[in-house]
Amino acid sequence: MADESQKWVLLVTARTPTNIAVIKYWGKRDEKLILPVNDSISVTLDPDHLCTTTTVAVSPTFDHDRMWLNGKEISLSGGRFQSCLRELRSRAGDVEDKEKGIKISKEDWGKLHIHIASYNNFPTAAGLASSAAGLACFVFSLAKLMNVNEDQSKLSAIARQGSGSACRSLYGGFVKWIMGKEENGSDSVAVQLADEKHWDELVIIVAVVSSRQKETSSTSGMRETVETSLLLQHRAKEVVPKRILKMEEAIRNRDFASFAQLTCADSNQFHAVCLDTSPPIFYMNDTSHRQKITYFRIISLVEKWNRAEGTPQVAYTFDAGPNAVMIAHNRKVAGLLLQRLLYHFPPNTDADLSSYIVGDKSILQDAG
Ligand code: ADP
Ligand code: DP6
Ligand code: CO
Repeated sequence: MADESQKWVLLVTARTPTNIAVIKYWGKRDEKLILPVNDSISVTLDPDHLCTTTTVAVSPTFDHDRMWLNGKEISLSGGRFQSCLRELRSRAGDVEDKEKGIKISKEDWGKLHIHIASYNNFPTAAGLASSAAGLACFVFSLAKLMNVNEDQSKLSAIARQGSGSACRSLYGGFVKWIMGKEENGSDSVAVQLADEKHWDELVIIVAVVSSRQKETSSTSGMRETVETSLLLQHRAKEVVPKRILKMEEAIRNRDFASFAQLTCADSNQFHAVCLDTSPPIFYMNDTSHRQKITYFRIISLVEKWNRAEGTPQVAYTFDAGPNAVMIAHNRKVAGLLLQRLLYHFPPNTDADLSSYIVGDKSILQDAG
């Protein structure tokens, strides 16, 4: 039993938004370090709508590391959590809280244990990048607690070892994950292409088709794709490098037509690569017949609308799950899109989509 002077607890809470890739990461060249087969680009979402909130605590009374996700205890023994913890502990600094009379020297972090409680305000493991927000928040909050004195780029490389897509959630706005060349992964980091103020007329609408956990996790899905899909090799070597350049240009010039065309094409190629996997992976129709139809109906609604207008008004993208992310050119288009969605998927009917989340791009926020 610890004596009175040992009964302190030091806490940090942080909030990290999720990000949705418009040029997708799918496939690793190194499973352990999480090094991808291609660059990717994403938009970081508004944390008021889709985010992870994580509280981390350290106390001499804790006798082992523990973690709770959405109120349920989960194991920290997995390689990814351990990689992040090892990287963070080795960079931890001295911490002092004079008011509470707490003094932790950097050597102490090797002996002290931590507790982590994390909560996602959106469906976990349902294709809305919970691993991105979750692992980015894990690294960000622990780095604060442990006074890790590293820049965002280094933190992104640590978060990458928790979940690839997490490295992009350490920045707001438009973010690129550079695949890098080094075998040790030192240059496989996220960089901000443009901050959240750039192109702020875009509106993001997420249609939550299903909050059910997907059957194939992103990690195992992409492993099977790397092992079996020839289309992935073509995608990674020939298609994505060109798309990345075009997407960077579209973002720089706020060229919505090009942005939407690239986003939709890349989402569709990602799902084609999943279908080219053996056995095939069907992220878009993992769930019920109703939801399967919804996926195709949303794509067809947006494609028809864009063609009728002569120039794209809305982009759609689906991650590894059935939930739709739509990006509207501006607020007026977003209003029309919501109207059309409500018309095609009327509430309290068979076609009802459980909910819509409307938000903007965003920045990292420290919950204090
Ligand atoms: P998603 O499409 O939601 O990212 P993944 O299959 O990539 O789905 O990852 C889901 C896994 O990510 C969860 O099973 C869990 O292990 C991890 N995860 C999700 N949220 C958190 C969180 N807040 N903290 C830690 N890990 C999380
Ligand atoms: C379809 O980052 O979830 O969302 O690195 O194995 O944790 P791991 O996979 P994860 O994969 C994300 C795949 C994607 C596309 C993307 O976010 O770029
Ligand atoms: Co994920």
